[in-house]
Amino acid sequence: MALVPYVENSLPALSKLHNSSAQFRFANHDLHLAQDWKKLGVAAVVWDAAVVMCMYLEMGKVDLKGKVAIELGAGTGLVGIVAALLGAKVTITDREPALDFLSANVKANLPPDYQGSVDVSELTWGERLERYPAGGYDLILGADIVYLEDTFVPLLQTLEHLCSDTSVVLLACKIRYERDTNFLNMLKQRFRTEEAYYEKQRDIHIYKAWKQPAQRDL
Ligand SMILES: C[S@@+](CC[C@H](N)C(=O)[O-])C[C@H]1O[C@@H](n2cnc3c(N)ncnc32)[C@H](O)[C@@H]1O
Repeated sequence: MALVPYVENSLPALSKLHNSSAQFRFANHDLHLAQDWKKLGVAAVVWDAAVVMCMYLEMGKVDLKGKVAIELGAGTGLVGIVAALLGAKVTITDREPALDFLSANVKANLPPDYQGSVDVSELTWGERLERYPAGGYDLILGADIVYLEDTFVPLLQTLEHLCSDTSVVLLACKIRYERDTNFLNMLKQRFRTEEAYYEKQRDIHIYKAWKQPAQRDL
């Protein structure tokens, strides 16, 4: 799996990642997410960015009822689960090795009447994107997915493929290294972006982005 986005001086705060589960209450539901750092690394723990994204979604600043959403790099699936509980129809995605763990968490945390609102499927950024409808999503969600420089180009390609002119991208980011801002600069070349929220305690930024309308030749 991917490299661990560790920062030396925050190691004590990261001990929670080694717990076998993480509990939250969002959207009036108690959620118990299984974690397995040893087996699956970064994809099998709940990162602060996901928690802050859920807090942001719960604030109601983004309309989720009846919207078609997709989550990229979902890990344990917390964000997708909360988006579904708040009324969206969500495709929750990650790379293939993470999918069984992700599916089990989604199944365990959604009441039966919400299970039909989610699909879990494989999406490796930039690969076989034609399996997902171009411009087919109202909302594209990603928590802590900006951390591997090699993935910046395919991640941007993926966002461009999934977005229509009216789609909204929400990225919850921990800026750990200067290189992480390179992605934001790349994003700004293709999308209008703004910082929608900042949570100081966990140092998480939420960026909102919309596709730039294609330039028309005069
Ligand atoms: C730091 S974890 C964040 C997980 C979850 N979103 C959260 O915040 O708890 C990064 C996630 O991105 C996924 N990921 C990394 N590279 C990827 C790629 N090239 N394509 C798809 N997903 C990828 C990893 O599998 C992992 O689940």
